[in-house]
Formats: sequence, C-alpha cells, structure tokens
Amino acid sequence: MNTTATTAIAATTAATVAAASTHAAAATTLRQMRAVVQDRFGGPDVLGVRTVDVPTPGADEVLVRVAAAGVDRGTWHLMTGLPFAVRLAGYGFRRPKQPVPGLDLAGTVVAVGSDVSEFSIGDEVYGIGAGTFAEYAVAKATKIAHRPDHVSAEQAATLSVSGATATQALFDVGLAAAGQRVLILGASGGVGSFAVQLAHAHGLHVTGVASAAKADYVTELGADVVLDYLTDDFADEEPFDLIIDIGGRNRISKLRAALTRNGTLVIVGGEGGGRFTGGAGRQVRAMLRSPFVSQRMTTFISDETAAKRAALHELVEQGRIVAPVDRTFPLERAAAALEDLEAGRLRGKAVITIGAGS
Ligand SMILES: NC(=O)c1ccc[n+]([C@@H]2O[C@H](COP(=O)([O-])OP(=O)(O)OC[C@H]3O[C@@H](n4cnc5c(N)ncnc54)[C@H](OP(=O)(O)O)[C@@H]3O)[C@@H](O)[C@H]2O)c1
Repeated sequence: MNTTATTAIAATTAATVAAASTHAAAATTLRQMRAVVQDRFGGPDVLGVRTVDVPTPGADEVLVRVAAAGVDRGTWHLMTGLPFAVRLAGYGFRRPKQPVPGLDLAGTVVAVGSDVSEFSIGDEVYGIGAGTFAEYAVAKATKIAHRPDHVSAEQAATLSVSGATATQALFDVGLAAAGQRVLILGASGGVGSFAVQLAHAHGLHVTGVASAAKADYVTELGADVVLDYLTDDFADEEPFDLIIDIGGRNRISKLRAALTRNGTLVIVGGEGGGRFTGGAGRQVRAMLRSPFVSQRMTTFISDETAAKRAALHELVEQGRIVAPVDRTFPLERAAAALEDLEAGRLRGKAVITIGAGS
C-alpha cells in the first residue's frame, strides 16, 4: 500500500476515533498504521516499515497520533538488545518484546483511557510513549504533558528523554547552584546539549568536552570553555564543583582528581562499556566508594514522569532553552537516524517526523 493511501486511512480512522467516544474502546475502530518494526535484535538494518495493528490504550493511557519521535541512545540499546542487561531487564530475551522502537514523542491525542481525566481528544502533547516510531503510539498519562506554546512537535520530541535526563543530572541529583564550576563530558550529544544550556542558564561556569568538530556548537550552547577529548585533558583545568559524566567513560580516579574536595560526580552513562553490563560496574564502584570519601559520587536512572519535566518545560516555553534538533528523518529513514546517532554525526538530536512527507 502506498504512503498516500495509508496516510488517508490513518486520517480517516483517526477522525472516526475523535468523533466516536472519549473511551479507549474507541481505539479499536482504528485498525492499522505504518510503523517501524524489528523482529530481532541487531543494528539499524533490522528495522523495516510495515503495516501493523494500532495499539489500544489501557485505562491509564492515551493513544497519540505521532507527529515526531525523538531518537536516543536508549532506543539504540533496545534495538540492539545490548548490553545484555537490557534483555534481563524485561525488554525481551531472544527478540524484542516491543517490536516498534521509540520512546520520545509529540503528537495529538486521538483516544483516551477511561481513567484519564487530564487529557482530551485533540490535545497536543509530548512525552514518553511505547513504540513511537509509528503513526500511532500509546503513552501513560503520567508520562505526557501538554505541548508548550511556541514549541514545535519536532522540538518537543527531544525533551522527555534527553532534556529530562540533563535536568535531573544537574539539579535533582547534582544539586547544581549558580556560580559553581561544572564539567560536562559529552557536551555535544543529546543529553549534553541540554545540560550545557541548562547549566549556563542557571549561572554556572560551564566547561564542555566534545570532539573538536563540534567545539563551535558547544560554545553556541553556552559553554565558557570547550575541550577536545582527543587532545585536551580536563585534569589540567581548575577543579570542578560538579562533573556531569555523559560520555568518554573516564576512570573514577581521574574524575575524582578533577573535582574539588567536596565536589559531586554524577554518572549519567557512556557508551562502549561491554556487551554484558555496558560498563555499569563503574557506576556501582562510584556509589560504593562515595560514603568513604569527601566527594559525593552517584548515578541515577531518569524518571520519565512528566512532573519531573516541569522546570525544563517552563524554560523551553520561555525560550531560554532551545531543543537541539539537528536533523529530521521520515519514518522510512529511521535506520539512517540511528546510524547517525551511533556514528557520532549528530549535534544534539535526530527526530523522526511522521505524517506529511514521511
Ligand atoms: N542515566 C540515565 O537515565 C540515562 C538517560 C539518558 C541517556 N543515558 C546515557 O547517557 C549516554 C549519553 O547519551 P546521549 O543521548 O547524550 O548520547 P549521544 O547523543 O550519542 O552523545 C554522546 C556524547 O559523548 C561524547 N563523547 C564521545 N566520546 C567521548 C569522550 N572520550 N570524552 C568525552 N565525551 C565523549 C560525544 O561527543 P562527539 O559527538 O563530539 O564525539 C557526545 O557529545 C548514553 O550512554 C546513554 O545510554 C543515561
């Protein structure tokens, strides 16, 4: 079936849903959609676009007609099934439990679960859903919010994974305060692009670490100092009150040496840590060591609830933080978006756009 025909069906069925009822059962009239699907774990070549059933929202969920879906490292891990720890965490052992990838979304509510009172059909929302590289996806009502005014769907689709993680790393976990010196390792990526802007907007002195090719970009985000991870050494800088460790997987001892005596290390993540745990042992070692040293060393798993994004939401609405959309890709080119992410070709974020043009 060609794109125009399927889009027409989707539009018609969505209209049926909107007219029919605010109850989730209405979603059953919406039968099929185009979606990126993977039957097995692997690289981007496992992804293909197929016609599949539209998911039915549960009582505490909404069905969203997706306009844009953010691409992030979590989606990469769930696509590859690596590190293996993600399979043990319940995402499918031999094959993906959720065959449609994608977490971040922005779009329009087309059906509402019976327990949901905060959202209505036609609301423009953004947040975390399940299987968002598709024309329709379900999302828990607690994980979505109304889209801020003046923020496009593409921009909104970057906020809930990367933006929220940066906010939590800096403020909820890192307890960042104006005037502090912060080192952001991985400043040019999805999380880092938000972290640099947020730290700058809150009056911290920001040192960002990225590849030389992206130094100008990190400066534009608001970094006071930019270091190249291949030729510069952050250990040569004045000590930092706070280190947000997003990329590079530096040794804990090296990170500690770059902190002030009472400084804080927040480990967000880092790629290349091995096929079994992804190098999570570094996080565990830092947390076990922390009670016995003057510095605080910690890590966290991002809280996906919309309430956690309230402060970020406000800053984006005020235009003080710009969602860092580098490239957009139609649904059919989702694999290319993930290849760009893995190859480090992005400044900030890639977004899948769905609907007209996809
Ligand atoms: N804890 C959580 O809940 C949580 C939430 C979200 C993400 N994460 C994790 O956080 C990590 C980053 O996510 P992301 O979306 O920001 O990834 P990303 O967009 O791929 O960005 C990775 C960043 O790391 C930089 N980098 C690469 N090698 C480096 C090195 N040797 N030293 C310093 N920086 C280096 C990259 O710089 P260049 O591109 O300039 O080379 C880029 O800025 C991932 O491991 C992800 O799984 C954790």
